[in-house]
Amino acid sequence: MDTMTITKAGGAFCGALLIFLLGVWAAESLYHVGHEGHGDEVAMGYLIEVEEEGGATETAEAEPEIPFEEVYVNASAEAGEGLWRQCSACHKLDGSNGTGPYLNGVVGRDKGAVEGYSYSGTLAEMEGDWTPENISGFLLNPKEYAPGTKMAYRGMADVEDRANLIAYLASQQ
Ligand code: HEC
Repeated sequence: MDTMTITKAGGAFCGALLIFLLGVWAAESLYHVGHEGHGDEVAMGYLIEVEEEGGATETAEAEPEIPFEEVYVNASAEAGEGLWRQCSACHKLDGSNGTGPYLNGVVGRDKGAVEGYSYSGTLAEMEGDWTPENISGFLLNPKEYAPGTKMAYRGMADVEDRANLIAYLASQQ
């Protein structure tokens, strides 16, 4: 899909370039009738370079990624409550375990620390606490953050969604 888009864009660009070069050639042959046109030829060549640079910059600017920490400062627990539905099939907030361990009080909790819950080896051995940043990393891509985890959740791509949901979790003690 991506490769296809790039190929198409590349094709379009080459086509445009070809037409442009034909134009330059046509203009030049007209121009040479009356004048010594070398100065203008150099200017035309330079114009092509500028176009290429413009294209490259556009692609680089396409994905402005705001860091989670910045988004989390303004996160809304109310907005996060609606997203909790994606978790509630497996997790509870009343101190009892379901398919997954209970998540009330999870923000700031030791990883893999709920008594009586049978974690995967990966999560049981993980060091550190569930800081908002760590939960965000886990939710973005559970299988990548914790290879071998038994949490069958495909991930939450939107950084604002993750921040709002974690703000909601932080409000559930
Ligand atoms: C399909 C079931 C399922 C869904 C849906 C799910 N989880 Fe989990 N979750 C689990 C399981 C199972 C574990 C235990 C993972 C392990 O031991 O590897 C887990 C573990 C976790 C942990 C680590 C808890 C601890 O005590 O270390 C967090 C945090 C977590 N889930 C958050 C979420 C959030 C937030 C959502 C919703 C966006 C979610 N999960 C959706 C099944 C699920």
